[in-house]
Amino acid sequence: MGKAIEIKKIRAIYPGSFDPITNGHIDIIQRSLHLFDEVIVAILINPEKTPLFTIEERRKMIETLYKNSKRVKIDTFDGLLVEYASKLGASVIVRGIRAISDYEFEFQMALMNRRLSTDIETVFMVPAESFSYLSSKLVKEIFKLGGSLEGLIPNIVQKELRRKFRIRKKSI
Ligand code: PNS
Repeated sequence: MGKAIEIKKIRAIYPGSFDPITNGHIDIIQRSLHLFDEVIVAILINPEKTPLFTIEERRKMIETLYKNSKRVKIDTFDGLLVEYASKLGASVIVRGIRAISDYEFEFQMALMNRRLSTDIETVFMVPAESFSYLSSKLVKEIFKLGGSLEGLIPNIVQKELRRKFRIRKKSI
């Protein structure tokens, strides 16, 4: 009998602010699932930013979207990304690149992360063209100004945006 072949499962981390998650992020997660066995969507706990959605609200939205997916896990992290990745036994960091303007910062982060840990590779993925101009920041702005976000965000995000802005208006 031949030797048993050990198949190593590849765990990838998809880190970000996800304030809120958009169809562009979802597109990247789908593409990552074609390459990796498990994708951890890791939401950064960043005390320096003032997000629209709390970390728990962001987590809940993403968990709802992936409740039936065994290969997508949702988590939050703080501190260094490479340390978090190595703690989880992840060997890949996934980042989406929409345009050349994203590249400069992403390139800098990838090289700095490599300097901090040679065990983790950054993989850049390109979303569908229809999402190449999409960002969480624009989603919030367009929603506030009453523009259409049809096809750009999942229904749960649309619902939570409505709820959030109703709450905000009440408190003014
Ligand atoms: O969605 P974002 O805001 O573009 O995501 C940025 C993120 C979370 C990938 C980046 O800020 C990050 O990795 N922060 C964790 C702290 C860290 O490791 N910093 C050094 C990066 S070289």
